[in-house]
Amino acid sequence: AEADDQLIIDAGQKQFGATVCGSCGMIYSADSLEDNFQHTQFHQSFLDGIKFVGWKKERVVAEFWDGKIILVLPDDPKYAVKKAEDVRRLADNELGFQQVSLRCPSQAKTYLYVNSDRMVVGCLIAEHIRQGFRVLEQPEQTKDMTREDFMEHHRAWCCSTTPEKAICGVSRIWVFSLARRKGIATRMLDTVRNSFMYGGHLTKEEIAFSDPTPDGKLFATKYCEK
Ligand code: ACO
Ligand code: ZN
Repeated sequence: AEADDQLIIDAGQKQFGATVCGSCGMIYSADSLEDNFQHTQFHQSFLDGIKFVGWKKERVVAEFWDGKIILVLPDDPKYAVKKAEDVRRLADNELGFQQVSLRCPSQAKTYLYVNSDRMVVGCLIAEHIRQGFRVLEQPEQTKDMTREDFMEHHRAWCCSTTPEKAICGVSRIWVFSLARRKGIATRMLDTVRNSFMYGGHLTKEEIAFSDPTPDGKLFATKYCEK
């Protein structure tokens, strides 16, 4: 029995080191067969999913030093709509959404950030909405709270409880893990505000985020206070 225990401990210790793949960004344990297998499965399909070959007609809505933003509309050619869907699926997969359908797919506008290496490293899906709930900053005080207080607080943190007039709802925002904190989400949202409505500019107050994740809340709070 003692020998068996030892074996288990040794095998366990080997798996502690985590590796980040420099191409696909997956975090896995290189010593684990299972993890290596999962990484191999994920790696190529992810890179294929974000690969951007270039289109004859691209609706470029913004250009930057490190890439450009392309807008895809529901009536665009099949290859464009398919690419937008492929990237959305990758983002949903990471967000843990199980094939949540869009409120109104025929109205959704997809913004894709294509970098200079021809990879789609950002995706934002915007829809027309009438009202939204503002993302609020997290209150500091959580001491001496009852569980009910906390839950109420927690919900209030995600959004205010009074709906406000909004025009543009962001139902997805995603940036490739290896390209984060470079202002890509910020630039995508700035571009949405300039291009979402024909001939109009949207204020930050006219934008609402649906069900933000912890990352999404941090980003949204920061973006809205600037
Ligand atoms: N933690 C703390 N602050 C953050 C974070 C974070 N994870 N992300 C953004 N911020 C704040 C920072 O102040 C940042 O400025 P700084 O880097 O100078 O400090 C500022 O927001 C601007 O950040 P960007 O670089 O523009 O944001 P980024 O391109 O990294 O994308 C995003 C942010 C989209 C949330 C990214 O982290 C992501 O894709 N996460 C995983 C998917 C996800 O959770 N998406 C949100 C879902 S909610 C929804 O879709 C409605
Ligand atoms: Zn990889």
